[in-house]
Amino acid sequence: MSGFDPGWLDLREPADHRSVAAEPLARFRRLFGAVEPISVADLGAGSGSTLRLLAPHLGPRQRWTLVDHDPALLAHARTRLSAWADAVRVDGDRLRLLKDDKAIEVATAVCDLARDPLPDPAAACDVVVASALFDLVGERWLGGFVQRLSDARRPLYARLTYDGRKSFDPPHALDGPTLAAFNAHQQTDKGFGPSLGPAAGDRLAALAEAANYDVVEGASPWLLGPGDAALVRSLAEGMAGAAREAGAPLADLGDWLDFRRSTAASGRAEVGHVDQLLVPRLRSSGPAPRPS
Ligand SMILES: C[S@@+](CC[C@H](N)C(=O)[O-])C[C@H]1O[C@@H](n2cnc3c(N)ncnc32)[C@H](O)[C@@H]1O
Repeated sequence: MSGFDPGWLDLREPADHRSVAAEPLARFRRLFGAVEPISVADLGAGSGSTLRLLAPHLGPRQRWTLVDHDPALLAHARTRLSAWADAVRVDGDRLRLLKDDKAIEVATAVCDLARDPLPDPAAACDVVVASALFDLVGERWLGGFVQRLSDARRPLYARLTYDGRKSFDPPHALDGPTLAAFNAHQQTDKGFGPSLGPAAGDRLAALAEAANYDVVEGASPWLLGPGDAALVRSLAEGMAGAAREAGAPLADLGDWLDFRRSTAASGRAEVGHVDQLLVPRLRSSGPAPRPS
């Protein structure tokens, strides 16, 4: 699959951080906010956005492992995290960050999750997180992932799984066909088998419940307004590109994209996502064992 552009990840980060479902985050804080120290694995970490969002909700000593198959993105993550921190020390291949009252150690791991859904360093962490990842994966991969997560008895906080809904204001007659073509493209293979795309959130919840997990979920839509014009333009361009690859007529797409570009600074857009917290149910009394 083609890689993710760091510029796109940077552009979407403010909207990603505004778009947090309250209940899964509240449960995440209750369960993990006092674990000291805490280790967190971020699957498909990209530029480290999820660490920047969640670190303030966790305790004073944190160890993060950022997992991605793209070494250039992980290098970008190190740069972004170093700029975000109040102080940074490079310690071999790790970063030691100070941010507000948190001491955060960051390791990166280049791994192809398509081959190994939960690499050992991630399976050994107290909690696994992932953002904007699961809509890329296929049914078979997701089944193997949940099995591995369940075998390791790890909790998962999965954010921003796209749910198939996008709407724009002002509307355009071609919004519906363009979205349908985009969503069809969302189901093509992104390296993990034919993607679940908008069905991923429901499948993750169903597989997790069958594997004896409690699932807490909530909607986390992007609500975009005039202040997000660059993001809306980029979103529309990405949608048009994917719709074209899915066979939507070029002339129609050109009209639609011109309209979306020209209204991006004055209009509104909404993109549906779901956030989910998966917590293994207790098998007997006592908490899930921490990894040794
Ligand atoms: C939509 S981006 C989300 C990035 C980040 N989690 C965020 O929220 O900004 C998906 C991420 O998954 C990573 N990814 C895609 N396929 C992968 C694979 N087979 N193995 C590991 N990472 C992968 C991409 O490199 C990218 O960083």
